[in-house]
Amino acid sequence: MKIVLLGYMSSGKSSVGKELAKHLQIQFVDLDHYIETKLQMNISEIFQQKGEIFFRKIENECLKEVLDNSEHENLVLALGGGTPCYYNNMELINQQENTTSFYLKQNIQTLLERLWEEKESRPLISHYQDLFGLEEFIRKHLFERQFFYLQAKHIVEVSNLNMTQIIETINLKMNNK
Ligand code: S3P
Repeated sequence: MKIVLLGYMSSGKSSVGKELAKHLQIQFVDLDHYIETKLQMNISEIFQQKGEIFFRKIENECLKEVLDNSEHENLVLALGGGTPCYYNNMELINQQENTTSFYLKQNIQTLLERLWEEKESRPLISHYQDLFGLEEFIRKHLFERQFFYLQAKHIVEVSNLNMTQIIETINLKMNNK
């Protein structure tokens, strides 16, 4: 079984992914990390030196590579925040056999607080100098991206849930209870 986690930057994809994989005793793959290892560059460097178009192309190739790798029969895969919105990435995920997807839906206030603290490492928002500008960007961006995020098989409202509750909710949804 492949479990794909998607959602906006800082919605908790990587931390939930790690915990879920531990709980299910299967492998965890973080797509950003996979790309960084492959290119031997961090995400900010890739954006700066190669540009976003290049990044999206590599992201699509790496997604296919991970999904098609037979060694990864059982895994939890955390996507980057933009992965569902480029190429036919959501179609690839939804057409994959034995694969399910979860949109981790986080509220804007939490995203804003987290992203303000972490913005330096995120090329799409690192230039924001004030909180209001960043909030406006997140609201618009999330609105545009929601169209793709909502193509996930399941939606988990994570805003008021702790890690244990999130894992429990994912498990219940996966078992159709
Ligand atoms: C991006 C999100 C990042 C990373 C890149 C672009 C986006 O991943 O892939 O900076 O377009 O939202 P995280 O969601 O893990 O931060």
